[in-house]
Amino acid sequence: MAGLVIAMDGPSGSGKSSASRGVARALGLRYLDTGAQYRAMTWWMLRQGVDLADQAAVAARSGEPEIVSGTDPDAPSIQVDGVDVGEPIRQDEVTSAVSAVAAVPQVRARLVALQQEIVGTGDIVVEGRDIGSVVAPDAPVKIYLTASAEARAQRRSAELTGTTARAQQAAMARRDTLDSTRKTDPLSLADGAIELDTTALNLEEVIAEVLRLVKERT
Ligand code: DC
Repeated sequence: MAGLVIAMDGPSGSGKSSASRGVARALGLRYLDTGAQYRAMTWWMLRQGVDLADQAAVAARSGEPEIVSGTDPDAPSIQVDGVDVGEPIRQDEVTSAVSAVAAVPQVRARLVALQQEIVGTGDIVVEGRDIGSVVAPDAPVKIYLTASAEARAQRRSAELTGTTARAQQAAMARRDTLDSTRKTDPLSLADGAIELDTTALNLEEVIAEVLRLVKERT
């Protein structure tokens, strides 16, 4: 399966990250978390004191940070200007600001170019919101993971301690609305994508189903 690209899109909490890593591991492929790159860009903007409500300011600075992604599914990593930001990019401050940064066309153009360079010769599972539609439209396997809002909020609260499921659900709904309604490359079901509802499935079942679809499509 040389050159294989598997595109995994969907809203937050749909189980994309765990499933994508599991599929990459099972098939011996690389793994790219594009959401981590938008988070890394946001972390850098916040550190620089850029006013995130000012789209022109975000656009003007978007070429500055050097973002490097590690693609080992067992130990995915992300660095900004040589600093490991794996932990800080998961903090609430970044999570609540990332949709605004990801909506800026210049940010997307820069990160999509970086992603396409990494995807290059393939053998990779790529997760995000616009992988099947923009980053890798020719990918032979495109999966769109969904789950009920309740299931998605519960999964996220289990990951983050100290946050209630209800607050989590509200914050996630706000972010999904922003991600789905932005003008540039909104979250959507790509042409040829297979929708997989994970509400009633556990991780192993999701991975097994994706592997079945990969076999069927390649
Ligand atoms: O998958 P995540 O929650 O880590 O993604 C963080 C944010 O980045 C999310 O709010 C949407 C945005 N994103 C995007 O716009 N395009 C992608 N390919 C990946 C993420």
